Amino acid sequence: MSLANVGYSSRLAWANPLLDRLEHQAAIVIFGEEPVEMGMAGLQDVLLQRLSDDPATAARFEAAFPDHDRPVTTLHVLQAIASFERSLVSFGSPYDRFVAGDGEALSDAQQRGHELFVSERLECFHCHGGPTFSDTLRHDGQLVSEFGFHVTALYAPEVLADAAHPGIAEITRREEDVGRFKAPTLRNIAVTAPYMHDGSLPTLEAVLHHYEHGGRAGEGHPARSEFVSGFILTDQERRDLLSFLDALTDPTFLTDPRYADPLGQ
Ligand code: HEC
Repeated sequence: MSLANVGYSSRLAWANPLLDRLEHQAAIVIFGEEPVEMGMAGLQDVLLQRLSDDPATAARFEAAFPDHDRPVTTLHVLQAIASFERSLVSFGSPYDRFVAGDGEALSDAQQRGHELFVSERLECFHCHGGPTFSDTLRHDGQLVSEFGFHVTALYAPEVLADAAHPGIAEITRREEDVGRFKAPTLRNIAVTAPYMHDGSLPTLEAVLHHYEHGGRAGEGHPARSEFVSGFILTDQERRDLLSFLDALTDPTFLTDPRYADPLGQ
């Protein structure tokens, strides 16, 4: 899923209610063995040596951690990655200009699409609500961070032991949690295909069809969220909703040179 505004996300993975710090998430990816992702388990010294041997990287670590004799440490690597991720802030879309008072920022179709998005008929906003379009949100002033994991009936329920898409049941071991996933942010969603935790829906049209049918696995899913009950859209309404989702694309964020490949310049 997109990393836009990930610093405001109170839970980081599709299906792990415990993982709430970017530093921990980075460690899992780099050093984890189930599954192996970056494959650095047991190779911390190699990793730190490689970073120290690169003069440009070593100089940046010295600048970032000036009070340390040995600035390149595993902890600092994780902190550096997490700090970079917290800088990935995207609030410059036409939708943001619209809510800030520029009535021209959204087309009529996009405004109609927004009305549909926040309607009780379509229910999208219950799970994709708030400034990040996700109900998994952390911000100043909260007593406790919000998070939600939901069954959208993307797959038919299966016995826990056989489930190919366990959702948070992988952690909780509760049968009713099979297929329960995080509602990801919808910011810049038009440019982050394919969709869902396994990329099984290729386009936003396919995502809308999934919700129109009350989930791809549809009726009869016992754990399906009450907010995924299906609805009927006219072709015009479907186009309006898609053009509203387009209004969440933030060109400033997508073309910010600070996020370009630093080695590719
Ligand atoms: C009950 C909560 C809930 C409701 C209601 C809901 N969603 Fe979702 N949405 C989710 C969850 C959970 C996922 C991830 C599911 C998965 O990966 O299996 C998701 C995924 C998505 C994705 C794919 C995101 C990505 O990065 O892959 C899009 C797009 C989306 N929803 C749009 C909508 C729209 C539009 C509506 C209203 C018609 C809607 N959602 C209603 C919970 C919800």
